[in-house]
Amino acid sequence: MDQAQELRNLVKKNEIIKPRARVITVTSGKGGVGKSNISLNLAVNFAKRGKRVVILDADFGLANIEIMLGVRPQYNLADLMFLGKNISDILIDGPFNIKFISGGSGIQELTNLTKEQIYYLIQKLNELDNMADIIIIDTGAGIADSVIDFILVSEEVLLITTPEPTSITDSYSLLKTLSRRDNFSVNDTSIKVITNKVNSTKDGLELFGKISTVAEKFLNINVEYLGIIPDDPSVSMSVIKQKPASVLYPNSTFSKAIERIASELFEESVEVHKNKGVAYLFANLLRKVR
Ligand SMILES: Nc1ncnc2c1ncn2[C@@H]1O[C@H](COP(=O)(O)OP(=O)(O)O)[C@@H](O)[C@H]1O
Ligand SMILES: [Mg+2]
Repeated sequence: MDQAQELRNLVKKNEIIKPRARVITVTSGKGGVGKSNISLNLAVNFAKRGKRVVILDADFGLANIEIMLGVRPQYNLADLMFLGKNISDILIDGPFNIKFISGGSGIQELTNLTKEQIYYLIQKLNELDNMADIIIIDTGAGIADSVIDFILVSEEVLLITTPEPTSITDSYSLLKTLSRRDNFSVNDTSIKVITNKVNSTKDGLELFGKISTVAEKFLNINVEYLGIIPDDPSVSMSVIKQKPASVLYPNSTFSKAIERIASELFEESVEVHKNKGVAYLFANLLRKVR
């Protein structure tokens, strides 16, 4: 049996016994478009609805979520692997009923694992699937391989874009890079666009139209639309105060928009998602990357 087959069997075996978390990967072509703020505030909204939410801060390098929450994690994902820490050690209790995991030094390190180490990691992540209903992966920006890899193995991707010309072209580049990967399949990954820092529904639709038209025409990728989030000063105020905008300014236009998007995501039938969980995602990731 080759290694890929063994991994698949391992995942299959666990699938029978364990409930799987819904994994939502948040990404963008360009940095600074609002991924971390959107991830965090969606998490707050899901938690308010009684869901157990974990944010995996996969923007290795920039430790965003911890700064936005004013919490300093002692351990990160790499410590699970290399220091023998448990999920409970690296899972940080944030405020407002959300938990998060700091990605630490990066997925690159994880791609050099031995087979035994991979088994170990997948088993541990299976535990995480049991502890969460929704796992939000806040990725780094851009077409770095590690980001593309994450998208490739995700079932549900939120692509954040803003009206800045560079954000539009970078969104397109990201989709293009994705479409060129042999193992990308439009049937396995649903891509949902959020237009952030947009001030009218009309502007948002226009921006979405630009992206979806070229994605369909040149890349054969269908993208869905989740709507706009307005440019709102409460976002940067909340970052400074190290608390989510949805908590500090629940009536702001930003918080209202996030609430609407959270509802839309929430109402989607769970059956749409195969709910393979984060262990499955990592198993796939390590299999495809290696
Ligand atoms: N809707 C918005 N309105 C105003 N400012 C925003 C909005 N979304 C994000 N920002 C600001 O943009 C900057 C980048 O946001 P961040 O969430 O860190 O982006 P990313 O994670 O994509 O790099 C932050 O300074 C944040 O305050
Ligand atoms: Mg970020």
